[in-house]
Amino acid sequence: MMSELRQQLDQIKADGLAEIAAAADLPALEAVRVKYLGRKGSVQTAFEKLPTLPKEERPAFGALANQTRDALTTALQERKALFESAGGPRGPKLDLTLPGRAPVIGRPHPITQVTDEVVRIFRRMGFSVADGPDIETEYYNFDALNTPADHPARDVQDTFYIEREKGVLLRTHTSPVQVHVMEKQQPPVRVVVPGRCYRRDEIDATHHANFHQVEGLYVDRNVSVANLMGDCEFFFKQLLGPETRVRFRPHFFPFTEPSYEIDLNSPALRMAGREWLEIAGCGMVNPRVFESVGYDPEQWTGYAFGMGVERIAMILYGIDDIRLFYENDLRFLRQF
Ligand code: PHE
Repeated sequence: MMSELRQQLDQIKADGLAEIAAAADLPALEAVRVKYLGRKGSVQTAFEKLPTLPKEERPAFGALANQTRDALTTALQERKALFESAGGPRGPKLDLTLPGRAPVIGRPHPITQVTDEVVRIFRRMGFSVADGPDIETEYYNFDALNTPADHPARDVQDTFYIEREKGVLLRTHTSPVQVHVMEKQQPPVRVVVPGRCYRRDEIDATHHANFHQVEGLYVDRNVSVANLMGDCEFFFKQLLGPETRVRFRPHFFPFTEPSYEIDLNSPALRMAGREWLEIAGCGMVNPRVFESVGYDPEQWTGYAFGMGVERIAMILYGIDDIRLFYENDLRFLRQF
């Protein structure tokens, strides 16, 4: 009798442990608990046989039944803890075999890349980098740059005014930063100024209301047109290769005298079937500009230039439409 019951208990324990180990989730585990340890479960049913045994056999059987119950209870608790640490009853199951998710790596915009390269070359030539506000006053954008009130660029048609009466506007070029820099420091000055500019231009493949320039300013004793031309030519050859040619065409800017436009001719341009491309304005700083910042024009001379970053990027990368830079199309941006 006793040995038969012993066998039954051993069987219950073995089956119970196997089913606990096989339970796939918390609900399955709960079902196993009810089946073995519930009020009508196998262990309880075995306990109920106790009174049918002879008195002297009862303690040994009771001890064995307790042992069975404890073994099952411990195994249940351990497996339950395992499920809960893996995300709770309804949480995600941890699957260590899933492949990882590749992070999307960004990169600098082509305009930023070209600006950085331009600045890098000028730094090697001894220039430092300066910065100025996008929102300017008429004074810095025009007056201090010897651009009179009746100049066509000051027309509301040409310029984005923020407050017309107060003369607050979006800068039309980076040249106002020349004035800020010279107000803050005494010569010699050797700076480049990358920045965003705004014009009420009709938007087409080569014009945008929003574009970028790099301004340059070099002030010292005896700076000459030869320095301007030599430095510009050196710079463009560094940027676009030794076969690049530059041409200085006489031009007019109120803030330089004499003034030129710089045209470029490079292998990349020739391949695209273009001869000369206008890339920058430049000239010798007009003495009137020195006067407006308190520099003595008898002592100091200087050159200044302003070049279009989009134009350079278009040559470097063979892009034929300026609007592509601002559309944020990843198919375009991922190519750089
Ligand atoms: N600011 C001029 C422009 O935007 C370029 C320029 C800069 C010309 C410096 C001369 C000197 O067209």
